[in-house]
Amino acid sequence: MTVVEQYVTDKNLKSRANLHARYGTKNWFEFVHAAMEWQENEHVADIGCGPGWLWSEVSSPLSILDGLTLVDTSQFLLQQAQTTVSALVKDFEPQALEASVCDLPLNDDGFDTVLALHMLYHVEDQPRAVMEFKRVCAEGGRVAISTNSLDNLARINQLGFDVFGAQKQDLGAVLFSPSRARELLEEHFESVAVHRFEDNYEISDAKDIAANLLSFPLGDAADSVRRKELAEALERELISVERPFVDTKVSFLLIAN
Ligand SMILES: C[S@@+](CC[C@H](N)C(=O)[O-])C[C@H]1O[C@@H](n2cnc3c(N)ncnc32)[C@H](O)[C@@H]1O
Repeated sequence: MTVVEQYVTDKNLKSRANLHARYGTKNWFEFVHAAMEWQENEHVADIGCGPGWLWSEVSSPLSILDGLTLVDTSQFLLQQAQTTVSALVKDFEPQALEASVCDLPLNDDGFDTVLALHMLYHVEDQPRAVMEFKRVCAEGGRVAISTNSLDNLARINQLGFDVFGAQKQDLGAVLFSPSRARELLEEHFESVAVHRFEDNYEISDAKDIAANLLSFPLGDAADSVRRKELAEALERELISVERPFVDTKVSFLLIAN
């Protein structure tokens, strides 16, 4: 499953988000907004915006929405994001550009903040992407990147390893680790602040774990034998409300300026 195939619709993204929505005790998006400390009238580019959950999954509307530009390679998700943001601000439709992070159709120095949340692990040429962020970022502006920790959802990843032979550590973090994010940002910016997010999940329904693992490329491609093995492995865990499967979500937000 290529990146393009993965995001033709929001099916895979939703399977993963379901785990966070159902078992999360903290709100990652609120955490990001608190760390960003938005200023009035900021111009913000949200690169790899997905369906725009960052802007809608918050308890109170944000004042900076009318300075927002959305960018994504998935036309489907970009349209969802545009519709979501339009519904949040009266008489406003954000600029939405179907484009790749490595070749942004944006002017130099145009944004106070460039966001790239949980998206650089899909990108082959990550140094080039960060150079693009620097180019479109105004003097004194900032770039915020997020990615998972290598030990994110460690128990679920162990199951994926046992059944599908998937990587033992978080796939996103293997492809783009927090330390790599820091290294790339430090090449272009004077300071990089690192914010760690952690949340414990008590998962009471084995189906949610299966859906999560099957949303990734190896799980998605698994044949019926492997899928049965996964079901059996989950049965052995005897997961229930009384006996939840406990795992920890760990992500990092890095803000450079
Ligand atoms: C895991 S989602 C994250 C969405 C959103 N940023 C969030 O945190 O909720 C990754 C997003 O990156 C987009 N994407 C993948 N490769 C891209 C690229 N080269 N340029 C721009 N967007 C890309 C995908 O289409 C998808 O919407």
